[in-house]
Amino acid sequence: MEFSDVVRARHSYRGFTPKQVDEQTLREIFELANWAPSNCNVQPWHVHVLSGDACDRMREKMKAAAAAEEPFNPDFPWEGKFSGEYKERQICSALGLWEHQGVTRDNPEKRAWSWMRNFEFFDAPHIAFIFVTDQFPELVRLAGDVGMYSQTLMLAMADAGIGSCPQTSVSCYPDLVRKELGVDSHYKLMMGLSFGYIDEADSANNLRTERDPLEATTSFYS
Ligand SMILES: Cc1cc2nc3c(=O)[nH]c(=O)nc-3n(C[C@H](O)[C@H](O)[C@H](O)COP(=O)(O)O)c2cc1C
Repeated sequence: MEFSDVVRARHSYRGFTPKQVDEQTLREIFELANWAPSNCNVQPWHVHVLSGDACDRMREKMKAAAAAEEPFNPDFPWEGKFSGEYKERQICSALGLWEHQGVTRDNPEKRAWSWMRNFEFFDAPHIAFIFVTDQFPELVRLAGDVGMYSQTLMLAMADAGIGSCPQTSVSCYPDLVRKELGVDSHYKLMMGLSFGYIDEADSANNLRTERDPLEATTSFYS
């Protein structure tokens, strides 16, 4: 694919088939993502990729925690509150997703189902958890590095015909993830990424979010 086509082919997909990505492709994609830039080349990402049974075990644990409404204890604050134009965009994307999932605002059961899809990893056969160590005092720069890594990873997936969904939601149970994977508590969970082959029959995958025009976001000087 042309690079611009890869960028435009990446969307957040929220419905996957059970077909697994073969191991060699998996390794190539994650190796490519390692070439993302980072402040002083510190490469702060520590990535755990779960497939097959390992992914299913984690999914069951996370679903059980969410169903029992176990309190969230994310390693990084997550208010999920926005205001002004940012809130408008947030609402727009949430309503867009609900529309494609057949969820209406006045139906609390369906809304809960939509939220629970996060903890089902949208049926993906793989999930990656991206950790960072707690030895970085400059959280903003660290978050920037992880953002660059994650986008490189998602573009590499898009180029290989693999869909993905970045997820802050699944980082709300970091202790569960650390315990299941035997990860030390010095590693903090920044986000998850469900991925696999897209289920074309899942209408959630028809969602296309919009972007503000260039003039609204970017100023040029000469
Ligand atoms: C860091 C990050 C965390 C996200 N967390 C979630 C999440 O928990 N659940 C979800 O359904 N989408 C999540 N998203 C996806 C966003 O809603 C999505 O990127 C945005 O609406 C733009 O749509 P697009 O990715 O299809 O272009 C997340 C995206 C990012 C970058």
